[in-house]
Amino acid sequence: MDGEHSQAEGHPTETPGDDAQRQYSRKTVLRAALAAGVAVPAAVIGAPALARTATASGAPLEPTPSCHDGDEPTIEQTEGPYFKPNSPERSSIREPGYPGTNLTVSGYVFGLACQPLDRVLLDFWQADDDGAYDNYTYRFRGHQFTNAQGQFKLTTIVPGLYPGRTRHIHVKVQAPGRRILTTQLYFPGEPRNNTDTIFDPRLLMTVRDGSGGREASFDFVLNVPGGGPTTRPTQPTTPTTPPGGTTWAAGTSYTAGTRVTYNGKTYVCLQGHTAQPGWEPPTAPSLWQAA
Ligand SMILES: [Fe+2]
Repeated sequence: MDGEHSQAEGHPTETPGDDAQRQYSRKTVLRAALAAGVAVPAAVIGAPALARTATASGAPLEPTPSCHDGDEPTIEQTEGPYFKPNSPERSSIREPGYPGTNLTVSGYVFGLACQPLDRVLLDFWQADDDGAYDNYTYRFRGHQFTNAQGQFKLTTIVPGLYPGRTRHIHVKVQAPGRRILTTQLYFPGEPRNNTDTIFDPRLLMTVRDGSGGREASFDFVLNVPGGGPTTRPTQPTTPTTPPGGTTWAAGTSYTAGTRVTYNGKTYVCLQGHTAQPGWEPPTAPSLWQAA
């Protein structure tokens, strides 16, 4: 079950430490500001810094850090051998009847200028409590989309360990019309983090104990230029409909396996979703595959 190692690139020599901590400090402030509704508009329009604000007593808060601190996009990691397309759309992949420690993973997806990105597809998959992947159905697999504030929340269990790997969750992240980021998320304090050659401390989640289990957070940064909301492609040209075919159209709910035409080409839906501008079949390879 150790096929992921054969595809690993690079052998990180760092241990969780200063770099990861520095990266998270700015995101922590961004998260707090967004959650409080303080500076979202500034972030959305790509302002250079989050706005200074004041407390209820009138005392000014410390200035929030600039967004120009060189945050790199979230790094990519191997997909591994267990990805399955066409996962169901659901924010909870916890399976009734399957044991495990409850876990939530929440966070934001940002562009390069700290703007929260909405409608970003996140497709999660992980091992069960015993460290096994379900390659026949979709247990512990599911995809969801960020909301208007760029937030996501996954409800699941802490994944089990399997030979050769430290504890991790796989995810593919794709903003509308953008390329897919494939990566993995890790848990701090895991002994195997020191021996797993795929592990990278830049992908460590912040994890704490909550009332009903463990609560993790992680913010993704996608290689999406800033200065405004996610760039949307211009209105698609009107495709022609061949006899008996169905033309792709924004606003339509598609199920896996549905065939559509777009600009004269046929595509097959890989996972159920509601089509939106920016997710045209040629630009959404996680949703559509050319027939
Ligand atoms: Fe894995």
